[in-house]
Order: sequence, then structure tokens, then C-alpha cells
Amino acid sequence: MNVLLTGGAGYIGSHTALELLRAGHDVVIADDFSNSSESSVRAIEKETGKKVRLYACDVSDALKCKMIFEENKFDAVIHFAGYKAVGESVAKPLMYFRNNFLSAIAVLESMLEHGVNLFVFSSSATVYGTCQDMPLVESSSLGVTSPYGRTKLVIEQMCEDVCKANPDFKAVMLRYFNPIGADASLAVGENPKGIPNNLMPYLCKVASGELDHLSVFGKDYDTPDGTCIRDFIHISDLASGHMAAVEKSGSLPKGISCFNLGTGKGTSVDELVSIFNSVNGNKVKFVYAGRRPGDVPVSYADVSKANEVLGWKASHSLEDACATAYAYQMKCSEGRH
Ligand code: UD1
Repeated sequence: MNVLLTGGAGYIGSHTALELLRAGHDVVIADDFSNSSESSVRAIEKETGKKVRLYACDVSDALKCKMIFEENKFDAVIHFAGYKAVGESVAKPLMYFRNNFLSAIAVLESMLEHGVNLFVFSSSATVYGTCQDMPLVESSSLGVTSPYGRTKLVIEQMCEDVCKANPDFKAVMLRYFNPIGADASLAVGENPKGIPNNLMPYLCKVASGELDHLSVFGKDYDTPDGTCIRDFIHISDLASGHMAAVEKSGSLPKGISCFNLGTGKGTSVDELVSIFNSVNGNKVKFVYAGRRPGDVPVSYADVSKANEVLGWKASHSLEDACATAYAYQMKCSEGRH
């Protein structure tokens, strides 16, 4: 298949590109490099020995987006492009609405115009809002806890309407839990610009000496060790989930389908820090700090739907995720990337 990956140079997009190319698919990437770099695309090409057609542009620019569809024939689009920092979205909601909504609209319009009928969307477990019925199933109640989360939920709803109006259209919402780690080749990985917001990149920068210590946000939650619980999923598993969605799309019903992509297992922040330290040599100093506003205490997935319908299941260990995340960080710190 020939697949367009918007935001394909980013953390999840680049790993998905690798998996697709390794499986013999063709990939076109559109990325504005606002939170990624062209070097990831070159690294993907080097690793796979395949050429990737690259558009260095913002797909929310409808004219540029149309041009990509005029110059290529796609079987599917995986739409990763979008801003993703929860705290920043609270401070700058309109920036999030403009970027995330306009890019989704431009891509969907171009798809309809060119008869491309498979849209896979980078959604998030954040669409479950404050739902406390664990594990979260695709039919759990939905809600919003930040402007970022609102963009994910509203784009899911937009897709539902687009499917109703276009009976041949299929939209697959992949609700990610917490992706961590890097591809075993270390060709690509996560190395956010500036001080990281998310746990794993923060852990890596403390371990590499770039940051002094980790603050664990909250030790007084109603969980066994008092820290939050998340469903941390290896990025390579997440990437193979996208490939399963594309490859199994023929057997999906027309209209919208939603899938949780997680491991089905909750791990606490304390547990993850301890796995990270045992795998990478006890490099992380940490202190307990107050709760971070907006954090839900517990979030983990029921993954039976993705397993049954897509034939997909996460298989990598958290040890592997911690080892590869840190190894990629060291590779970047040593300037080899
Ligand atoms: C958030 C978003 C999620 C998004 C993801 C990646 C929500 C509810 N969740 O997940 O949708 O896909 O970011 O952008 O909007 N922690 C620390 N110290 C740190 C950093 C984090 O203790 O320095 C803790 C947090 O309090 C949390 C856990 O680690 O309990 C995971 O945090 P994080 O990696 O930021 O991901 P989420 O907030 O779960």
C-alpha cells in the first residue's frame, strides 16, 4: 500500500514509517518539523534502504495539502500531525484548535476530493477524560480534561460525521496510551526539544546528566504505592498497531472504528522508575513532589478489541522500552544523531 503519514517525522510517525517500510509498503511523509527534524527521515531511509518522498510543509495549509494528493495516489492516510503538549494547550488553546482542527480538516477534504477512503487517526486515551472504570474499553464514557484532549475528541466526532456523509469512508481512531522506548536499531527515537513534559524523556535526561533529578508528581494517590498508574506501551508495538489497522482495514466495517492501543497492564510511576534504574544502572535521582494538575490517578486499557479485530497485541517488555529509550538518548547526547 502507499500510505501518507502526516507528521511522519515525529516520534510515533517515524516508528510507524519504519514498520511500514520494513513490511514492504510505500510511505510518503508530510511534516513541518515543528517538533521533529528531517534527520529522522534520512535515518529511516538509511535503516530500510528505501526512499521516502518527503514534503516539508504544514498540512493545515489546505493548498499545500491538496498538492500532495495531486502528486501521489494513496491507499490510506495516517494523520499524526498535531500539537501534543497538554500544559501548553491549556495556556494556548486557540493555537491548538487552529493547528489540530485545520490540519485534520485539510487532510480529510483532500482525501474525499481524491477518493482516498481510509483515514487512521492518532487519537489518545485522553478522550476518556476522567472516566474511572478500569480497564478503559472503547465504549467507556468520554470527556475532556484539556484543550489538547478536546482536539482529539472533536476530531473523532468530526470523523464520525464525515463517515455518515460518505458511506465508502473508513475512519480508524487509534487511542494511544503512554508510548515509550525506541526502535531496536536506534535509528529513530524520542528526543523532545527543551525540558520534557512526559515521564520517559525526563527520566532519560536525568540519567544522561542533562537534568539533575526527576520530580515524581504525587505520592498520595489511591494506588498501591501512592503514585499514578499508566499503561506504558513500547513504541514499536504502537507502530505495529498502525500497520495492523492499515493492513486489516479491508475487514473493518465502513464508518468509524475505535481501538485502544495499550498493553492492558497498569504500571505505577514508581515501578517504571525502578525498572528504568535496574535496566540502566541506577542513574536516576528522584524526589516526591505535589500532584500535577490535570493528572488522572489511574489509566490503563482493555485491549481485547484490537486483539480480536486487528489481530494485534503488544509484545515488547518495559525493560526493553527503558533500555532503548535511554540508549537513544545517549546516542543523541553524544551527537551521533
Ligand atoms: C499525557 C496525555 C496524553 C498524551 C501524553 C503524551 C492526558 C490525560 N494525558 O499523558 O494524552 O498522549 O501525555 O503527550 O492528557 N510524571 C512525573 N514526573 C514527570 C513527568 C511525569 O511524575 O516529570 C508522571 C505524571 O504525573 C503521570 C505519569 O508520570 O502520572 C505519566 O505522565 P506523562 O508521561 O506526562 O503522560 P500522561 O500525562 O499520562
